[in-house]
Amino acid sequence: MTVESVKPATPAAPELREPPLAGGRVPLLGHGWRLARDPLAFLAQLRDHGDVVRLRLGPKTVYAVTAPDLTGALALSPDYIISGPLWESLESLLGKEGVATANGPLHRRQRRTIQPAFRLDAIPAYGPIMEEEAYALVERWRKGEVLDVTAESFRVSVRISARCLMRGSYMDARSERITSALATLFAGMYQRMVVPLGPLYRVPIPANREFNRALADLHRLVDEIIADRRASGQKPNDLLTALLEAKDENGDPIGEQEIHDQVIAILTPGSETAGSMVMSLLHVLTEHPDQVDKIREEVKSVVGDRPVAFGDVRKLQHTANVIVETMRLYPAVWILTRRAVTETALGGYRIPAGADIVYSPYAVQRDPRSYERHTEFDPDRWLPGRSSKVPKYAMTPFGVGNRKCPSDHFSMAELTLIAAVVASAFRFEPVPGSDNRTHIGITLRPRKLLLRAVSG
Ligand code: HEM
Repeated sequence: MTVESVKPATPAAPELREPPLAGGRVPLLGHGWRLARDPLAFLAQLRDHGDVVRLRLGPKTVYAVTAPDLTGALALSPDYIISGPLWESLESLLGKEGVATANGPLHRRQRRTIQPAFRLDAIPAYGPIMEEEAYALVERWRKGEVLDVTAESFRVSVRISARCLMRGSYMDARSERITSALATLFAGMYQRMVVPLGPLYRVPIPANREFNRALADLHRLVDEIIADRRASGQKPNDLLTALLEAKDENGDPIGEQEIHDQVIAILTPGSETAGSMVMSLLHVLTEHPDQVDKIREEVKSVVGDRPVAFGDVRKLQHTANVIVETMRLYPAVWILTRRAVTETALGGYRIPAGADIVYSPYAVQRDPRSYERHTEFDPDRWLPGRSSKVPKYAMTPFGVGNRKCPSDHFSMAELTLIAAVVASAFRFEPVPGSDNRTHIGITLRPRKLLLRAVSG
């Protein structure tokens, strides 16, 4: 017997496996054809092929993560960053110095700057504006009138984000211009991200001219707002003040370009996600009139006969659960991407350096392994006794880790208040021409929702 043979064996590092190749690919295009044709169904069925699977998109291999615990591990690991062609296209539209596309120390510093404007204790200061905007909706809507839900939803979300985060009387006039510029941008941005044709988007056909004019107008508006805020000498406790006072790593004020890019990078995707959620909420209230009744009952039991106010929101538990369940089934952010900065491991699988990885909150939040009656709209699954049964990271509509949406409390408060105000005032019926099939763009939302507001 040798000395070596009696030494306790050091456990060998487990061999990393190659993730299985997902089935269903076609020659040349690989999985790209199915992904482009029906992305939600395609991403949802990947779970049947493995927890991590390889996809072939033309000549490129992309990794898809399907198990909730591994999507959490991915989002929390420093081995992955935000990068890749989609993000580069976004930067070319919105600016290179925004928090949504930065990485490393710059991203950490930018998050530290913006975070206080979104903290739980900052939200009550936004209450009066959120109330004003939620009530403006129901005051404008008339019984029997057909509502263009897309326009109404984006309008309210842009106005709330812009007015809360860049407070000032100069916003009254500019909110409408921002809404109009962003509405045009939301319509054309996804195409420019996934089909980056570069100079072709500068060809002066009407659609390009309209998009480029809206983009220029948004940039101009943001410059005007920053100039007006400086001229006013006011420093309300909001995002714009935080950016104007921010210091870089040397203790110097951050540059004008960074302030500008930050405003655009926060306002644009933020308003589109929140607007998509307002649309999905109105779709849900139309499909589930019993939920309108339940919200009304809850509002009445909490506030009695006076109008519901921002201060009541934290007591409206069922109403908040309707929002959470809406986000589970119709998450505005339906796909997230990362890039591996080093060779690494995920769930026992080898992920090479430089690999692009995708996962879908839509697929994870509709996984029958995590949710009983997974396609059923059931807000009560978020009651305290039941919600603890949901596996960790199986419900992450705002993401996880250092890139988690800073606006989770802000958006929950906004959506819960809108649900309470709107359901207390109206019921909704679909009208001919309404198309509630899913529109898949940067965000997910109903395609073209036309609803009649009725009383009762
Ligand atoms: C990032 C969801 C509203 C600002 C994100 C991410 C998600 C998300 C999933 C990315 C997480 C990741 O990459 O892992 C949502 C949803 C919203 C919403 C569902 C509405 C219900 C807003 C609003 C704002 C906002 C209203 C601001 C006005 C941001 C910013 C980031 C972000 C700045 C980038 C954070 C970073 O990279 O560090 N959001 N969001 N979001 N969101 Fe939201």
